Amino acid sequence: MNQEKRGVALVTGATSGIGEAYARRLAAEGYDLMLVARRGELLESLAQELAEKQGISVDTIVVDLASEDEIKKLASKVREMEPLSMLVNNAGFALRGKFAKSDIDRQVDMIMVHDVASVRLTHAALPGMIAAGRGAIINVASIVGLLAWPGGSKTYGGSKAFLVNFSDGLQQEVAGKGIKVQVLCPGFVRTAFHENMGEKMSSIPGFLWMRPEMVVDASLKALKRKKTIFVPGKRYRLIVFVSRLIPGSLMRVISKMVRKSTRK
Ligand SMILES: NC(=O)c1ccc[n+]([C@@H]2O[C@H](COP(=O)([O-])OP(=O)(O)OC[C@H]3O[C@@H](n4cnc5c(N)ncnc54)[C@H](OP(=O)(O)O)[C@@H]3O)[C@@H](O)[C@H]2O)c1
Repeated sequence: MNQEKRGVALVTGATSGIGEAYARRLAAEGYDLMLVARRGELLESLAQELAEKQGISVDTIVVDLASEDEIKKLASKVREMEPLSMLVNNAGFALRGKFAKSDIDRQVDMIMVHDVASVRLTHAALPGMIAAGRGAIINVASIVGLLAWPGGSKTYGGSKAFLVNFSDGLQQEVAGKGIKVQVLCPGFVRTAFHENMGEKMSSIPGFLWMRPEMVVDASLKALKRKKTIFVPGKRYRLIVFVSRLIPGSLMRVISKMVRKSTRK
């Protein structure tokens, strides 16, 4: 049990994968938690486990972050409560297939969950953090938001690139106010994400996979170093570096090969 109280951390998408790993890690570090997702039963059992194990207080809030009304209600709650110590905008999902043939409502849902929710929750959390002179905001994007990755899920890449740009600009605005902003840009992470998306991932070599706990550990270490745009894993930092040196035409060939190999 950790007796050091760090204030409240709000984590979206805490029922699975990277969000759950943030929740477990922040609980172990002594943060009280507000856990947000749609699957209430999973939230409840995680909350109960962490509260008992770590002696922290855990609130759960069932929210569909694809609904702007529900995002607004959550943002109001954040504005009215004691200032958050940390906000982790992590919830997300991806879609496969051609944009023109896709369900446009699901595409817009994705922009809601990734971008509108992150922007509204950040806007709600910031005044309290600024007044307190401390706080951290982590926006979980993707390496796809950094690479000029042609094809793939256009809305996914675009919505994650938005988070990169938004977070980078925000860090400059809050510089000197005691607030750290990070945009986390992972590569392949072993979670339910790819299965939910309907991708076959067996062709992706093992060395490219990271565990969610490794990603979260690297993220929190980088936060201490005040690294704003952060790519976990040396191999992925190398990929980003190399991708900026090679021509767009070669990137298009590589991205086509990866997409073909992961098609079910
Ligand atoms: N896994 C990867 O390879 C990878 C790589 C780069 C970036 N990322 C990013 O990492 C983040 C976390 O993904 P993950 O890999 O941990 O996937 P995951 O295991 O599928 O978890 C996704 C989480 O998002 C929540 N969520 C999805 N839609 C939601 C909605 N409408 N409202 C509220 N919560 C919602 C889910 O909770 P409920 O279903 O209970 O609502 C779940 O907790 C995402 O933003 C993803 O884009 C993942």
